[in-house]
Amino acid sequence: MAIRLGDTAPDFTAETTEGPISFHDWIGDSWAVLFSHPKDFTPVCTTELGECARIKPEFDRRNVKIIGLSVDPADSHQKWAKDIEETQGTALNFPVIADPDRKISMLYDMIHPNASETFTVRSVYIIGPDKKVKLMLTYPASTGRNFVEILRVIDSLQLTANYSVATPVNWKEGEDVIIVPSMSDEEAREKFPAGWKAHKPYLRVTPQPNKAEAAKAGE
Ligand code: BEZ
Repeated sequence: MAIRLGDTAPDFTAETTEGPISFHDWIGDSWAVLFSHPKDFTPVCTTELGECARIKPEFDRRNVKIIGLSVDPADSHQKWAKDIEETQGTALNFPVIADPDRKISMLYDMIHPNASETFTVRSVYIIGPDKKVKLMLTYPASTGRNFVEILRVIDSLQLTANYSVATPVNWKEGEDVIIVPSMSDEEAREKFPAGWKAHKPYLRVTPQPNKAEAAKAGE
């Protein structure tokens, strides 16, 4: 069955570069990003894993755990990790799942047979602390992902979870946000003391709530 937004992310046990894990237990109270790689010792994947290791503090700051997956066994991942450190300048500092029998790749629909019968595509699943799937992305093997975009999406998802706001086109951290249409003006007055600009009754724009709170505290 295809996984859809809002579904509970399928749980699994797996061998990783950091030992065995049980996925939901490993996520705990954090957010999680699960992302697949077509194969070990491939060039685009090598750059992606190096970049994720470099920006891991950005994920940590957002209470997000990251975990890669590749269809090769753990001893192959360990050998590849040496190349990642050598060529990308940062050692792997998060687990990579070994999935030689493709059990997890199949569970998460990461193998798209018309792209490749054997390798996974570049899937990204962002999962909340409630273990629900919040976002899914699929890239082809030939295109490295933009992890700045993934951090941007996490910022948006966490604002929605904490403040019932949505983020407009091309939104970036610190910019104005949108009050969700399901919220009445009365409730919005309580939640957004900084007020809002109503371009239309359904298009109400307000300063990013956690920035507005920080600015008020610093007054
Ligand atoms: C890569 O990671 O570089 C890659 C993997 C499979 C096909 C094309 C590129």
